[in-house]
Amino acid sequence: MEIKSAAFVVSNSDYRKCPDTGLPEYAFIGRSNVGKSSLINMLTNSKDLAKTSSQPGKTQLINHFVINDSWYIVDLPGYGFAKTNHSNRDQWSSFIGKYLSESEHLNMVCQLIDIRHKPLDSDMECYAWLLECGLDVQIVLTKADKLSKSAAEAQKALFKRELGIFEDQIITYSSTQHTMRGELISRIMKKVQ
Ligand code: GTP
Ligand code: MG
Repeated sequence: MEIKSAAFVVSNSDYRKCPDTGLPEYAFIGRSNVGKSSLINMLTNSKDLAKTSSQPGKTQLINHFVINDSWYIVDLPGYGFAKTNHSNRDQWSSFIGKYLSESEHLNMVCQLIDIRHKPLDSDMECYAWLLECGLDVQIVLTKADKLSKSAAEAQKALFKRELGIFEDQIITYSSTQHTMRGELISRIMKKVQ
């Protein structure tokens, strides 16, 4: 199964205005700058379907992209962006949190975590909260190209332990090396078919 077509549909800050077509939604969530939008571009084989930046805080709205005319990828703003910046926290407590907890067609989420860091409170809290919302979560450790293979494996083992998850719930990934693209697509497709 491949991603054959991908197109931008709509951006908004009100979950009630998200597409109401009944198609399944698969959202990407994680700290700002972790690589959510880059991952979406890699999955969809596009250069700039989702807007990316080296500066955190690039994605500001809930963005729906329709895939193969049959399901949605949803790119979200990141959390943890400039702790003193109230607007990021406000966004989370208003529209992003509501989208995740209230959206009727969302039940699958990829949570991205930078593989170079030790487990951060914000990531652990986010994971726990996603489970509370009843969402099925796939963990993606991003920027694996920044570590050696053995260091990446050690980080994966650490996150598996800390999050209490199994091998099929976590994957290491690099959008610069295309590693594990096929495996990640097949895991996502299994959930949306
Ligand atoms: P926000 O929209 O601000 O929440 O960020 P985001 O999570 O969407 O991150 P984005 O995809 O915009 O990427 C942030 C930066 O990380 C960009 O400079 C990307 O080129 C870089 N980046 C993303 N993925 C990878 C990766 O796997 N490896 C490396 N080395 N850099 C990456
Ligand atoms: Mg983004």
